[in-house]
Order: sequence, then C-alpha cells, then structure tokens
Amino acid sequence: MALQLGDDAPNFTAETTAGPIDFHAYLGDGWGVLFSHPADFTPVCTTELGTVAKLIPEFDKRNTKVIAVSVDPIDSHTRWLDDIEDVTGARPEYPLIADPDRNVAMTYGMLHPNASATATVRSVFVIGPDKKVKLTLTYPASTGRDFNEILRVLDSLQLTAKFQVATPADWRAGDDVIITTAVSNEDAAARFPGYTTVKPYLRTTSQPG
Ligand code: BEZ
Repeated sequence: MALQLGDDAPNFTAETTAGPIDFHAYLGDGWGVLFSHPADFTPVCTTELGTVAKLIPEFDKRNTKVIAVSVDPIDSHTRWLDDIEDVTGARPEYPLIADPDRNVAMTYGMLHPNASATATVRSVFVIGPDKKVKLTLTYPASTGRDFNEILRVLDSLQLTAKFQVATPADWRAGDDVIITTAVSNEDAAARFPGYTTVKPYLRTTSQPG
C-alpha cells in the first residue's frame, strides 16, 4: 500500500552524486524533503533541480535537507549536473540518488504504471525529525513543481508541530493562524490572549512563536 501521512519514512542506502548515503543519517535530527524525477536530461526536471539548488539557503533556514531521486545511473547524473548548471546557473550540491534498480522508487511508491511503465512520477515526501511522513504530493511528469509551495508547507508543518494551531487557505509565514478546536476557549485566552472569534469553531490569532 502507498505510504500515507504518519507512516514511518523507510530508510535506505543509495549511491548519490554526493557519495553513498544512509537516508536517515543524512536527514539527521532535522526535516527532510525527498523528491523524484522521471528521468535525467529532460527539460522540466532540469529546471526543477536548478530551482531547488537556488533555494537551498531557504531550506537551510528551515533546518531541512533536500534529496532528489531519479532511476538513471550515477554517471548519467554526474553529466547531467553540468547541464543543470549551464541552463539554470545553479549546480545542485544536494544529493541526487541513482536508483537504477528502482529500490527507492518502489519503496516510496514513485512508479505509477498507468502514468508511465518506466519513469517515476514527480513525488514529494516531507519527513519530520521523527522520521514520519508529514506530507505527500504527486505531480505528473508534464507539470513542474512549485518549490516555494514546499517551503510554505514546511513553515506550516513546523509551526503546527509546535503550537496547537492550523493554517488557513493561502497562509504565508507571518499571517494570522487558526486555533485548533482541541483548545478550549479558556485555554485559548491564556495561550493566545486577544484572539478573535469569527465563528465558535473558527478562532484566529497572530502567529505564535
Ligand atoms: C521533463 O522533465 O521534461 C519530462 C520528463 C519525463 C516525461 C515528460 C517530461
């Protein structure tokens, strides 16, 4: 069955462009983003990997390691990095996993046979410090991902892991948040003084922390 939210993120060892890794050891105590690519030397993937390389300072701010996977072999990956740098001006220094035996792709359910018999879809897994799956996204090969959305989700996941709040539609870091229904009005008054009641079930407050 496909990996679901709250499941353990399976560990694996793999060859990558940054050398051999043990996935959980690579993530350490922080957050992680594992994302798959259909194939090397393909246009959308080239733009995606360069975009992520440019966003590494933003992932660092969020104590988040990124790691990409494609089923092509390591020598292909290494040659592709030159092209990515050439096209986007940014060379991925984060690891790109070579997965020719499809071990990672199968473990994480990145092969969707009705979409493609051989190439992975564009999957994203956000993994928490407890090594549990916190978010999954699946895009078709034809649609490049918005990695600023992944950063936005990380902001929400990290905030809501710390405080009993949820984030509304289109929320951005710094916007008001929703106090979860698990918090009584009495507790809300103590923890989020001056909170606003829009409806009895919808109470908002400024972003804590
Ligand atoms: C791409 O990255 O452009 C791509 C890869 C596989 C199928 C379609 C597009």
